[in-house]
Amino acid sequence: MTTTTEPRTSTGPERRERPAGNVPEAFDAVASTYDLMVALNPGYHAHLRASADDLVAALPTTVTSGGRPVRVADLGCGSGASTAALQAALEAAGVDAELVGVDGSAGMLAQARRKRWSLPARFVQADAETVEVTDLDGPYDAVFAAYLFRNVAARDRLLGRVHDLLVPGGVLVVHEYSVRESRRARATWDAVCWGVVVPLGLVTAPRSPIYRYLWRSVRDFDSTLVMRSRMVAAGLDRVRSRTVGGWQNGVLHTFLGHRPEDR
Ligand SMILES: C[S@@+](CC[C@H](N)C(=O)[O-])C[C@H]1O[C@@H](n2cnc3c(N)ncnc32)[C@H](O)[C@@H]1O
Repeated sequence: MTTTTEPRTSTGPERRERPAGNVPEAFDAVASTYDLMVALNPGYHAHLRASADDLVAALPTTVTSGGRPVRVADLGCGSGASTAALQAALEAAGVDAELVGVDGSAGMLAQARRKRWSLPARFVQADAETVEVTDLDGPYDAVFAAYLFRNVAARDRLLGRVHDLLVPGGVLVVHEYSVRESRRARATWDAVCWGVVVPLGLVTAPRSPIYRYLWRSVRDFDSTLVMRSRMVAAGLDRVRSRTVGGWQNGVLHTFLGHRPEDR
């Protein structure tokens, strides 16, 4: 069944769709089936890879030819799908690099640590909103955040953290759903969530509210204009965004900005 209208049980306020406890704890409960769920999403890995390619292309040449490994942090790395996309993009470009994945969910990090990494990679449990540069042994040349920002209430604070985590000239890439400014995108999102994602979630994680929360959190997330404005307000420059092709056109976006060079 595919529907573009919200089911009666889900028209209440946002808090009814929020997982009990915090978001990383809710991801603990689905960690063992998360990779299976995303494998069923056509384009999930290819889109992550395209955003990771954008990140690598935006690295300053002073960094890539600096004679040391490029340092890349993946905030909200989850089970490592985004970290794997970064690794593939860096290796394809011949960039020597080291990776740190940061996530609040011990269960998701355990999945990431079980994978084989061809670049030096370590995984740290921390709240991205409050983590200090020194906790992560920063600064970093690039920060990637895939499907993290809509889970965070204090987005401006998180962007401030990212700014401080970056070297001058360093690059932030945010990979995120945003449907607020397009009626067509919202209709597509509703249809896919209630026709495919939520029913599949009932099979793979029957007791978890996370896939209904996914629907609501995307519905409630910033427009691309607001997200870009937040990035500018956080002190980033050369801020831009693009969407993808296919059915996720206008739904999935890549945002890019740089910490300004020191003058
Ligand atoms: C939808 S998953 C995305 C995982 C991965 N980036 C990917 O592309 O597959 C979102 C991840 O963000 C993590 N997360 C949410 N809020 C967080 C926070 N405040 N600090 C750290 N991690 C957080 C969750 O635990 C979860 O693993």
